[in-house]
Amino acid sequence: MITVALPKGRTLGATLDRFARAGLAPEEDFAQTRRLIVPARGGAASFVLLKDPDVPLYVERGAADVGVCGLDHVLESGADLLIPLDLGFGACRLSLAAPQGSPLVQGWKNGEGGAELGRSLRVATKYPRLSARAFARRGVPVDVVRLSGSVELAAVAGLADAIVDLVETGRTLEQNGLVVVDDLLQVSARLVVNRASYRLKLEELLPVLERLGGAP
Ligand code: PRP
Repeated sequence: MITVALPKGRTLGATLDRFARAGLAPEEDFAQTRRLIVPARGGAASFVLLKDPDVPLYVERGAADVGVCGLDHVLESGADLLIPLDLGFGACRLSLAAPQGSPLVQGWKNGEGGAELGRSLRVATKYPRLSARAFARRGVPVDVVRLSGSVELAAVAGLADAIVDLVETGRTLEQNGLVVVDDLLQVSARLVVNRASYRLKLEELLPVLERLGGAP
């Protein structure tokens, strides 16, 4: 019996499709139920439905054997996981963005790295760990403000000079007068696996991993 952690965000549909093609489907539709644990048809597995950022922790601690989660949350969590498959869907990028006309936009292009502001760059984000790492790598001093959502607003309302957030279509940035200054990470959905489960449940997991990997 294996437990699969599903992300309840934008990639849930693509994740369920992929598992269905690999022969694993929940016996009840998550859109029609308030149940958070649903057995797979045939009983070989069960699915748990989680907020995307919680998937790595559930899998690392063994409450789920495998899970699906964006690379952004995998890296931000710092969880010790196997990441055997890039599932391809959920493609977006983690970008630094600032208001159009901000001195940061030109300054970053000139390699000033925020120095033109005359103080530490204040950046709002749901990804404090990834942001701190990206700026440290670039040698840019930064004051990171952690938010839970609507991150773009922080740069518009003056809470921060810039944001680090996911950009998919770019519509949210555009509609809030922000522009991408730099791309920090290419993101897509990954299959993550608990290290102990991979050893102890290999017989059950391998066929599932193979079928997931083989699917187009
Ligand atoms: C995500 C992300 C951006 C937006 C990007 O937010 O944080 O805000 O989508 O998508 P786009 O480039 O296609 O416009 P989400 O909708 O998950 O909500 P949140 O801001 O509350 O996290």
